[in-house]
Amino acid sequence: MYSLLFKLIFQRMDPEKAHHLAFRWIRLAARIPVLRTFAAAVLAPRYKELRTEALGRRMHGPFGLAAGFDKNAVAIDGMAMLGFDHVEIGTVTAEPQPGNPKKRLFRLVPDRALINRMGFNNDGSAAVAARLAARNPVFRTTLGVNIGKTKVVPEDAAIADYVTSTERLAGHADYLVVNVSSPNTPGLRSLQAVDHLRPLLAAVREAADRTVQGRRVPLLVKIAPDLADEDVDAVADLAVELGLDGIIATNTTIARDSLGLASDPALVQETGGLSGAPVKARSLEVLRRLYARVGDRVTLVGVGGIENAEDAWQRILAGATLVQGYSAFIYEGPFYARAIHKGLAARLRNSPYATLADAVGAEHKKVTSE
Ligand SMILES: Cc1cc2nc3c(=O)[nH]c(=O)nc-3n(C[C@H](O)[C@H](O)[C@H](O)COP(=O)(O)O)c2cc1C
Repeated sequence: MYSLLFKLIFQRMDPEKAHHLAFRWIRLAARIPVLRTFAAAVLAPRYKELRTEALGRRMHGPFGLAAGFDKNAVAIDGMAMLGFDHVEIGTVTAEPQPGNPKKRLFRLVPDRALINRMGFNNDGSAAVAARLAARNPVFRTTLGVNIGKTKVVPEDAAIADYVTSTERLAGHADYLVVNVSSPNTPGLRSLQAVDHLRPLLAAVREAADRTVQGRRVPLLVKIAPDLADEDVDAVADLAVELGLDGIIATNTTIARDSLGLASDPALVQETGGLSGAPVKARSLEVLRRLYARVGDRVTLVGVGGIENAEDAWQRILAGATLVQGYSAFIYEGPFYARAIHKGLAARLRNSPYATLADAVGAEHKKVTSE
């Protein structure tokens, strides 16, 4: 049904217009009580075995929506209604900004992939904070807030920019993410070097602790799949050193040639971050490497090319406590999150693991105990 809708309507439309149309439908449905209750009953089923604890929260399941889909925190209940157990909004920057000129989002259908160079188009952290403050949640979902650097702010003022957003947003977040890995803001990814990352994460931690009383907001960093293995290890070590709560692996990739893409070469060469199926192998590899280094000391979130329950299960076995998706949602439609939670519950039931937590990183434990 959705594949027909995709072929007949969405695929013929400009991808960004299609996104806005689908987004409007989701927001509208979430505003109609009977519809949203019915949709949530079908799409957000609760499997006892998938109950898990992560980042200090009790969750109904490990699968959530990756950042970038709801940049301005306008559809949190809509996404929860569709079965995403956690929703990560953003990236939000301190100043509002329009992002890059259009066209800036491309579909690579034969590769089940997207390329985007959106450039953090968002309303800015003051507006998003006001929206979150006024929000009356319908569904109990875990809310991640992902922050990034305003484009016009020079790199040497980046920390202050992140701190401003932290002060405004941390109080509304169940967890906070420092995004240093999007390829569409010049210089952003150089903040992943530990010499830059250490003071940045320390300043954001301090700002979150200073502005939010009575609870400690978990802090995570989101990294690129394009980091060299030594740099992945360096971020892992830094996370342990700073007592960071989590690492999200990974963002989109700037790689192309090594991925054997089948789409029109002109499309493949569009500038921006590539996501979806082609990033799957490297995202899994980065996650595996991180878990080998940090074990259970840091919560890992696996994202990049999650198309189905098997992909999500492989991330969990490799060390992810939580898993996220974005691109495959565009291709799979409204039953995407449901299929993943349902398939995960079945896999867990048929596995030797008593709980989801036991399955996290099990692949590593098996190797060492044999
Ligand atoms: C159109 C688009 C916009 C995105 N915007 C953001 C963003 O603002 N912040 C961020 O951290 N990640 C962003 N991402 C990256 C996703 O959160 C995710 O890390 C990446 O797409 C890999 O997952 P996927 O293969 O399931 O899409 C974006 C991805 C897409 C496709």
